[in-house]
Amino acid sequence: MVDFALSKREQELFDTAMAFSKKWIVPYARELEEADEFPWELAQKAYDAGLMNSHVTKKYGGPAHSMVEETLIGEAIGYGDGGIATTILANNLALTPLLITATPEQMEKYIKPFATGKKPKFAAFCLTEREAGSDAAAVKTSATKDGNNWIINGRKCFSTNGHIAKYHTVFTTIDPALGYKGMAVHLVDTELPGIEIVMLEDKLGQRASFQAEVEYNDVRIPDDCLFGEKGKGFKYAMQTLDRTRAGIAALGVGIAQRAVDEAAIFANFRRQFGKPIGAFQGISFMIADMEARAMHARWATRYSAWLVDQGQRNTKESSCAKFFATDAAMQNTLDCIQIMGGYGYAKEYPAEQMMRGAKLTQIYEGTNQIQRLVAGQAILKEAQVTELDTGFRLQYSGKDYPDPWGPREGDVPDFWGKKKSKK
Ligand code: CAA
Repeated sequence: MVDFALSKREQELFDTAMAFSKKWIVPYARELEEADEFPWELAQKAYDAGLMNSHVTKKYGGPAHSMVEETLIGEAIGYGDGGIATTILANNLALTPLLITATPEQMEKYIKPFATGKKPKFAAFCLTEREAGSDAAAVKTSATKDGNNWIINGRKCFSTNGHIAKYHTVFTTIDPALGYKGMAVHLVDTELPGIEIVMLEDKLGQRASFQAEVEYNDVRIPDDCLFGEKGKGFKYAMQTLDRTRAGIAALGVGIAQRAVDEAAIFANFRRQFGKPIGAFQGISFMIADMEARAMHARWATRYSAWLVDQGQRNTKESSCAKFFATDAAMQNTLDCIQIMGGYGYAKEYPAEQMMRGAKLTQIYEGTNQIQRLVAGQAILKEAQVTELDTGFRLQYSGKDYPDPWGPREGDVPDFWGKKKSKK
């Protein structure tokens, strides 16, 4: 039987996170954004409330949340503010490659302190480089073995919490000639010599979150800071993003839902032509579309997270949920502003901040174009010749089905292939 209800534990967690969001984020979101400093006080409260480091298991002092539970927290915190959500929840991204790969010794030494200290500790996910954004396999930051150490050299950008993090989860290459097969994951203690925070991004929105550009100059780290196997770094990055994109989708759901709620309250109270503007179908139809987007985004998100909890691969589903939910957040915040008119555009109300925050969710953890690429490729890979393929069957009846991606008679030469072979 299909059951859409949350369990008692899940409902309690969602209620706790939502109460936290409404008490500590919603009223202070503007102030926190304009403060232009790291929200330590709020981070402490979120840490004390058990909302950080979702996937660290009980054995290592963590809350051991399931992936569905992580999306419930993401939705609730995203409802409060996209920037705060990114700040507080970024550890989930940075710790996932470590949790996938760590030995019990590494868990004890490096992960446990994240969940057991009195103060919150941060880790930063360092994959992106100036020339390796959507093309994540093109990283140049190198890790070279030197006796019992690794030496890290290179530069990473758009690293959330990179400037205050205790550790950086750095995606390196041990041999650039091997492409993605030469990548690895190294944990870098930011207190070591040779690390420089080059700059912090000055952004349109999510200004209560901070993205650093970091340079590593001959940073010497111990041997046990290599997580997992050499050469599998790219795979670990992709496995991480499969999970965490469901988390970003959840932020999108939170923002999309907040836009519905703000628009509906406004439409009930704002009167024009002698009645609430919500009484006009032009407005109520917009609100219905907004709710439908938020609702569909929520179920796509929870389903993609549920697959992880069932031990199933969710690459296609998390990409679909990510782009659908964050596009919903963008459209809903734009519609919220439209419904609120001049007040929506003004800083007196939260709608414009929500819209600026939503924009980033369409970009980070893989642009929504990359999500469509991932999902599209997965769907094409799954497509089988079936009884439904009548046109296809007629064309090839009696013959072997050809490789769908292979050359056909009359194909024009591949432009990109030709260009490559000239080199
Ligand atoms: N799980 C396991 N393995 C996977 C995988 C997955 N989800 N996806 C790919 N792989 C494997 C493939 O099977 C293949 O392995 P084999 O050769 O052994 O078969 C290998 O990885 C290479 O796969 P592709 O050929 O598909 O790789 P690609 O180079 O074409 O790249 C991509 C694919 C989807 C475009 C990928 O580069 C990508 O996701 N790019 C976006 C990067 C991204 O999301 N960056 C965001 C950074 S985080 C951030 O923004 C945070 C912040 O705080 C601001």
